[in-house]
Amino acid sequence: MSSGFRAPKGISEYVPPRADLLYAIRQAFAERARLAGYGYLELAVFEDTQLFRRGVGESTDVVSKEMYTFEDRGGRSLTLRPEFTAGVLRAVLEHGLPGRGLPVKVWTTGPAFRAERPQQGRYRQFYQLDLEAIGGEDPRLDAETIAIAWNWYRDLGLRQVRLLLNSLGCKECRPAYRARLQEFLRSLDLDEATRARIDLNPLRVLDDKRPQVQAQLTDAPLMADHLCAGCKAHHDRVRELLAALGIAWEDEPRLVRGLDYYTRTTYEFDHPLLGAQSGIGGGGRYDGLSEDIGGPPLPGIGFGLGLDRTILALEAEGTPFTAPPACQVFGVALGETAERVLFAAIDELRGAGIAADASFGGKRLKGAMKDADRSGAAYAVIVGERDLAAGSVQLKDLASGDQVAVPLTDLTTTLKERLSR
Ligand code: HAM
Repeated sequence: MSSGFRAPKGISEYVPPRADLLYAIRQAFAERARLAGYGYLELAVFEDTQLFRRGVGESTDVVSKEMYTFEDRGGRSLTLRPEFTAGVLRAVLEHGLPGRGLPVKVWTTGPAFRAERPQQGRYRQFYQLDLEAIGGEDPRLDAETIAIAWNWYRDLGLRQVRLLLNSLGCKECRPAYRARLQEFLRSLDLDEATRARIDLNPLRVLDDKRPQVQAQLTDAPLMADHLCAGCKAHHDRVRELLAALGIAWEDEPRLVRGLDYYTRTTYEFDHPLLGAQSGIGGGGRYDGLSEDIGGPPLPGIGFGLGLDRTILALEAEGTPFTAPPACQVFGVALGETAERVLFAAIDELRGAGIAADASFGGKRLKGAMKDADRSGAAYAVIVGERDLAAGSVQLKDLASGDQVAVPLTDLTTTLKERLSR
């Protein structure tokens, strides 16, 4: 079946049952965020283009090549959000949240847009969970945010997630390191495009995956060896706190993130079964971002977790995490009076917290029972005129095929009891 239209290229869409899984993992995250005191935000999907240019940075691939930018009818340049952090900070400032006390702890979720070359795990519309703690320099915030993501992965049953950790220094120590790195990189045999990067964004060269580049980088100076005393103490403290929480990480001194705002703590969650798109989440500090977008000094830390890749990781590991059942009880009515009675009974079941559905369109027994099987329900309630006359309905266990008559008045309690076994 088709309308002739197709979704634009590279868009990640979800329909049941995968969409139910997406919803369930979001809910599990919402619970983790709530338990840690993070409030929910619902924000603009498009923003003033300048926000991303100044926030995410002109030298990044995201801003220079991947933004969906358009002019609105009033001639304003707008961009579909390629990430959340700049918009979260913009909104936190715009709505005066820092006035209610610091740090501002918030989270949000939804689609983000990047005009990338689509492939498995890389889409032009994709979905993130984003959590930020704004207005605090305390290394406990770094560890707390990492722990929220870590615990959520564990809630989902993911066992193979790796946490890669680094520090990118601050405006005190990074410029000197950057100059040193540039000097080193200029002495290498690199192609034109990579040479251009040395001036623009030398740290990104460290991240180059090509073996001929990596081979030349073995002696490259590393930020970890050039941190100022403040950054070193901060980084050591974050690592102590993670260890105290029992979180395992790997120091990755070459880890560089694709967005310009990062300072100090930076990290990625990586999944070894996902091939080229193995980054299932990432985050870090952005102590200068608020000022970059014209706000007051307000350090922050947070992360973005890729929902699409998390689902791929769940599927790759075969974890038992599943969405709650879409249907537990399926009603089949034979005849008009039965339909009326069933309609009310189904409503009562739903009111008691049981996922219940019924056959529609006046199907005969055979067709309706096929619907019941397809629904995935554990039980079918079959209502016939003769049973009704006796005040009862038939309850069929769809796995075993066993069928018993149950008084209509006892239907909800009977099912509640059976489903909780
Ligand atoms: P990011 O690393 O650019 O960070 O994106 C976070 C996650 O989004 C990635 O680890 C990946 O799982 C997912 N992702 C990114 N691009 C795509 C794509 N094209 N298709 C599918 N999934 C994708 C950020 O966006 C930062 N704002 C995170 C952050 C929050 N840092 C501090 N606070």
